[in-house]
Amino acid sequence: MSRKPIIAGNWKMHLLKSEAKELFEGIKNYVKDYTAKELPTVVIAPVFTSLAAVETVACDCGCGGNKINIAGQNCHWESSGAYTGEVSVEMLKDAGCSYVIIGHSERRQYFSETDEMINKKAKAILAGGLIPIICCGETLEQREAGVTDSWIAGQIKAALEGISSADVAKSVIAYEPIWAIGTGKTCDSDEANRVIAMIRSVVKEVAGAEAADAIRILYGGSVKPSTIEEQMSKSDIDGALIGGASLKADSFNEIIDKTMKLTLAAK
Ligand code: 13P
Repeated sequence: MSRKPIIAGNWKMHLLKSEAKELFEGIKNYVKDYTAKELPTVVIAPVFTSLAAVETVACDCGCGGNKINIAGQNCHWESSGAYTGEVSVEMLKDAGCSYVIIGHSERRQYFSETDEMINKKAKAILAGGLIPIICCGETLEQREAGVTDSWIAGQIKAALEGISSADVAKSVIAYEPIWAIGTGKTCDSDEANRVIAMIRSVVKEVAGAEAADAIRILYGGSVKPSTIEEQMSKSDIDGALIGGASLKADSFNEIIDKTMKLTLAAK
């Protein structure tokens, strides 16, 4: 089956409202020349305080698709309550989000997010009709110790625990080796593809062949305009979750452009 590629920008804790608006306008200006069918699924994840500065851009060709989709960078699994500093799925939906990034290594590392919390968040996101982008990845120490595959398989099994195959099929996974995030050290694309194929086999084991075939699995970690073509040419890499290079319209648009042209050429 052919899976529609996803190019997602994780803006992390960057950009004030006016800067977010400017970046959004720069991306909007690029996508206006294409239909949602031609474009990869484009997702941007601003900080919560900038969600009002961006918006979903619907396609004007009548296809019902979106040219730009919005994601939250985190959420709580409860719908409301006394959880100071947290935001619920319904609140993100209300702010225009259709995706939510969960389990990013920065949240696991600095905010003690556990596999169990990530599983609860994934379930809440899917129950609310949004799509989770579930992050996983190993440290350099784990890679050097040869435990990459077992570590990631464990993260994925825990994140997907108790989720129906139909919901797994809709979900997105991002493989982000921690040592490649923000370091300029991209994971070799054959190796990234190997790990992503391994993740797909884990999805097959827990949710069946159909879900494994449908789920989109992204690579993240120092993705740049100069790396995207090789990454996207690999069989199991369905797109990218981009940090640094998503903060400038030029580089993010170039990544979208190269992905789109490769996809169109493959048809
Ligand atoms: P960089 O693209 O800056 O390495 O960040 C990757 C990432 O963490 C995206 O979620």
